[in-house]
Amino acid sequence: MQIIKVKDSVAGGKKGFEVFKQALANGAKVFGLATGSTPETTYTELRNSDLDFSQCVSLNLDEYVGLQPDNPQSYYRFMHEHLFDAKPFKHNYLPNGMAPDIVAETARYEELLSENPIDLQLLGIGRNGHIGFNEPGSPFDGKTHKVKLTQSTIDANSRFFEHEEDVPRYAISMGIGSILSAKQILMEAYGEKKADAVKAMVEGPITPDCPASALQKHPNVIVIVDEAAASKL
Ligand code: GLP
Repeated sequence: MQIIKVKDSVAGGKKGFEVFKQALANGAKVFGLATGSTPETTYTELRNSDLDFSQCVSLNLDEYVGLQPDNPQSYYRFMHEHLFDAKPFKHNYLPNGMAPDIVAETARYEELLSENPIDLQLLGIGRNGHIGFNEPGSPFDGKTHKVKLTQSTIDANSRFFEHEEDVPRYAISMGIGSILSAKQILMEAYGEKKADAVKAMVEGPITPDCPASALQKHPNVIVIVDEAAASKL
């Protein structure tokens, strides 16, 4: 893992942008994208840049089950607001959390991933070390699947919803195995609340107890952390 320490998330967004720019220059065509507050500064830099993604494809990591795409909290909506409306891609794929058959949807998505192998996968990390919605205990060879969210993830994500009861209880997520198939991975983490997870990811044992520790097995990972998130390293 290459660890890049920055002052704050704004500086991190500029570094993240550089990683995207370099990947594009190297011929990357397929980008794995993430939601959450962490990638916002990178998306701001991408939106304000002249980088051209019109010949590229994106696949998002995850989506809530049961939210319509136009729901303000859906990841579909998040991605359109933060990136896609300003930066057109040839195709943007997200798991469809409204699919009538969620299991069939996970298989469809895994098929899309095998047709479009990811060149660069962007990730954030949950406070408990989750990546995508792969909670502690998830297998390292997991594929796209339906996830029951843990209470800690529901609590962490409830800040975006009016009431805690409004947070969906299930999601579709790429598995850790799907994530590790990406050629390159860019992980960003900001803030003191991520410090324990960052330490476990970078220095801890490789164990499903910390899903992000699986990244230690990948040959091409860049981690961008601010001072607070790196404070326990
Ligand atoms: C969510 C998402 C993850 C994200 C994590 C951290 O649960 N499914 O992909 O990395 O939360 O979110 P944030 O960046 O807002 O801290």
